[in-house]
Amino acid sequence: MTRALFTPMQLAGLELPNRIVVSPMCQYAAVDGMAQPWHWMHLGGFAVSGAGLVVLEATAVEAVGRISHHCLGLYNEAQEEALSRLVSDMKSFAPDVPVGVQLAHAGRKAAGYDRCSPRRDQPLTKEDGAWDVVGPSPVSYNAKAGWQTPHELDEAGLVRVRQAFVDSARRADRCSFDLIEFHGAHGYLLHTFVSPLTNFRTDRYGGDAVNRMRFPLEVVEAVRGVWPADKPLGMRITGDDWHDGGLTITDAVAYARALHAAGLDFVTLSAGNIVPGAKYPPVAPSYMVDFAERVRAEAGIPTVAVGMIVDPWQAEEIVASGKADLVALARAFLDDPRWGWHAAAALGVDIPYPDRYNRVRPAVWPGYRLAHPGSG
Ligand SMILES: Cc1cc2nc3c(=O)[nH]c(=O)nc-3n(C[C@H](O)[C@H](O)[C@H](O)COP(=O)(O)O)c2cc1C
Repeated sequence: MTRALFTPMQLAGLELPNRIVVSPMCQYAAVDGMAQPWHWMHLGGFAVSGAGLVVLEATAVEAVGRISHHCLGLYNEAQEEALSRLVSDMKSFAPDVPVGVQLAHAGRKAAGYDRCSPRRDQPLTKEDGAWDVVGPSPVSYNAKAGWQTPHELDEAGLVRVRQAFVDSARRADRCSFDLIEFHGAHGYLLHTFVSPLTNFRTDRYGGDAVNRMRFPLEVVEAVRGVWPADKPLGMRITGDDWHDGGLTITDAVAYARALHAAGLDFVTLSAGNIVPGAKYPPVAPSYMVDFAERVRAEAGIPTVAVGMIVDPWQAEEIVASGKADLVALARAFLDDPRWGWHAAAALGVDIPYPDRYNRVRPAVWPGYRLAHPGSG
């Protein structure tokens, strides 16, 4: 049986065995930016999940760009060594599953308590080691809630951050990552340059849309210059700021076109999280897929759809109907780390399993179908 979800896809020189992506998920488990045993469990499982690509969580390109004290980083030797071992271990047992990393800079949303802390979503206090944060403009994410006013990045600061992305990309290549996704959404640094809600600059990095895109495009071009041409580069962007005066899907189409021209191979369409008080739509199945569909059709760049994709038939329909090239799932993979296997079983596709687990392939073991009557 052939299904769109289980057809391979070529991105630059990389072949993905199918269209299922494990979406980046911050674990807040790092120590000094270094991967810990939790990451081996979390990501090791996803490497044998049936997904065609596993993307590591938002990984900071410099210390001030960490969301919290417990984020992964890729800005020093020790972090590079830990991630190198992690990627090498994942590939030792899942050689055909590409591994990507999401390179990030949290900008004005840096220096917060992590989501596992009782003070989650609040800014760090000085006593808990808050550091000074940076952004396109000196406007706090939420002054009432105590979020810092960021230092406006000057020319030297922009050069430093751009170089940090380049240096982390070089490290990512040495770690044998197959793909980089820039984090350009959720109110983090690159997004805050593009959105008129957060960029009030009067220099060539602010003002009209062309100027607001300039810094992220410079980052992309600089990284493209050092990241191997056969390895894909992409960015998670916003389909809508869900706030009056913010970015909309029309802006996302224009941005995606510019990113494509600058050398990106794909974009992932997410939304929101840039300013408090946004008007969110109900979180229903496929609620952001339209963004991926519009950008794919109008900007002509491969897209990844994300957001409440949970059911194999739902995922199959998104890919088969050409709404997106790939589907990224986050919570469904936390809930079921073999989601890819089970999607294959539900859609009646026989996919390779690691030899050691071959005995549970639906072709040789009826257990999954007995437990899930009607699948396959
Ligand atoms: C635990 C967790 C951590 C996340 N961390 C990240 C992240 O590091 N980078 C990112 O772009 N999105 C992150 N997200 C958002 C997901 O990648 C995804 O876009 C979102 O959860 C919607 O997809 P879902 O409905 O499949 O969960 C995270 C989501 C969860 C649940």
